[in-house]
Amino acid sequence: MIQVKNVKKDFNQDTKIHMKDIEFQNGKSYAILGVSGSGKTTLLNMIAGIVTPTEGQVFVDDVEITKLTQKEKDNFRLKNIGYIFQDFKLIEDMTVEDNLSILQIEKVNCIEIDNILKQVGLETKKKEKVRKLSGGEKQRVAIARALMKSPKIILADEPTGSLNYEKGVEIMELLKEFHKKSKHIMLFVTHDDRMAKFADEVIHFEDILVKGGEK
Ligand SMILES: Nc1ncnc2c1ncn2[C@@H]1O[C@H](COP(=O)(O)OP(=O)(O)OP(=O)(O)O)[C@@H](O)[C@H]1O
Ligand SMILES: [Mg+2]
Repeated sequence: MIQVKNVKKDFNQDTKIHMKDIEFQNGKSYAILGVSGSGKTTLLNMIAGIVTPTEGQVFVDDVEITKLTQKEKDNFRLKNIGYIFQDFKLIEDMTVEDNLSILQIEKVNCIEIDNILKQVGLETKKKEKVRKLSGGEKQRVAIARALMKSPKIILADEPTGSLNYEKGVEIMELLKEFHKKSKHIMLFVTHDDRMAKFADEVIHFEDILVKGGEK
């Protein structure tokens, strides 16, 4: 379970993100819908231990993420969280295989590269440099990297953002299939409310924000 408690992130005078308490249950998938700049990526980053809240706590099961040192957060993320970043964060000049083998170098328990590439339909691109791939193919590499460690939590930030509707549906079906096989929590952020049907629960981000004065 993920618990977000009394969390505030103040980036500066003008940008203050205050969240209502929210829990995400094991085994469930959630679609998070909301306008640009409202703080969706910030929420995922706080769960992943990449952004530290100004106040409040984030728990993953009984681990208080917000209390860990940065090194412990990085280690926790590496082992437990599969994060599909909004901008992929792949190394463009490396091959698909080398991008995925980084996890093995870090000694994270992983599904074999050939196996995961087959599952995401990229077995023929193993030796290709990432910069030569299409947007949808890069998306699949990012998904493969996130899922190959069978993480406790999948965070997917606009996983269909750069794709047309049909390709987007393919990606969501892939994520849904993975999620179904596990007790994972999957949170995916989307601008496209047609993708919300792939989640067990839909969260409108505005509804979990505390607006001025409200408790
Ligand atoms: N490191 C930072 N420093 C200052 N402000 C930041 C930082 N990161 C995010 N912000 C601001 O916080 C707000 C929320 O950003 P965030 O990226 O979480 O939004 P988002 O809902 O994911 O938007 P989008 O849908 O466009 O991806 C924005 O106003 C953004 O400019
Ligand atoms: Mg974002």
